[in-house]
Amino acid sequence: MCPMWVGTSWKMSKGLAEARRYVRGLADHLDGLAPAGVQPFVIPSFTALAAVNDELGADSPVLLGAQNAHWEDQGAWTGEVSVAQAKDAGAQLVEIGHSERREHFGETVQTTRLKVAATLTHELVPLLCIGESAEVKQAGGSSRFILEQAAGALDGLDPEQLARVVIAYEPIWAIGETGRPATTQELREPFRDLGREYGRRVRGLLYGGSVNLDNAADLLGIDHVTGLFVGRAAWQLAGFLSLLEIAAAHPKATG
Ligand code: 13P
Repeated sequence: MCPMWVGTSWKMSKGLAEARRYVRGLADHLDGLAPAGVQPFVIPSFTALAAVNDELGADSPVLLGAQNAHWEDQGAWTGEVSVAQAKDAGAQLVEIGHSERREHFGETVQTTRLKVAATLTHELVPLLCIGESAEVKQAGGSSRFILEQAAGALDGLDPEQLARVVIAYEPIWAIGETGRPATTQELREPFRDLGREYGRRVRGLLYGGSVNLDNAADLLGIDHVTGLFVGRAAWQLAGFLSLLEIAAAHPKATG
């Protein structure tokens, strides 16, 4: 039985002191053991990666992630951080292709493919984010769009490599302050289609976008969903701990 993945990206928030406080509290609470059936992960800013790794300690059940990484190991890429460097700082997972990076920083299907490949080469977990805009959804093209994003990024992987990938479906219209929470009804079809294509072949199929304590259990109940990728609702430790509890109590985790 695969675990429910529940994690948070802090995006561009938290200085070192706050990052350390959050993770120290998390490590104290978990005391070396994730809730049964749940795989927690935390994705801080690069500046806090090593400090968070330090606080979590060597055998932490919490996976540590980077919010992005360059596909080359080193070189003249000013301002970039390589997968190798992120791994050196403690990352076990690399977030790839978040819509904010696609929209503001020129992330393309080609660069997501290079990053997935580099992440696998370094034996970290690629967390590939896909999601369509409100316009694409309105035109009825959600499934086709996200399947194309996924296929482009995962092109050329063999089954063993694909089995190490986690996909997070995060519709752009549902993310952040300006987003509106998706209903479970409107997520059924995209997850049915993602599930058909990737359900048995990848390590996890997560949902993200305005996840909160009120909708988390229902979202986890959608067919093929095996976890949640959370922003704002998990930026305070209490929120993250509550979400871990909700996942642990869910029939998919206990069953
Ligand atoms: P919110 O949960 O704040 O909508 O953000 C989701 C997200 O983008 C996680 O990567």
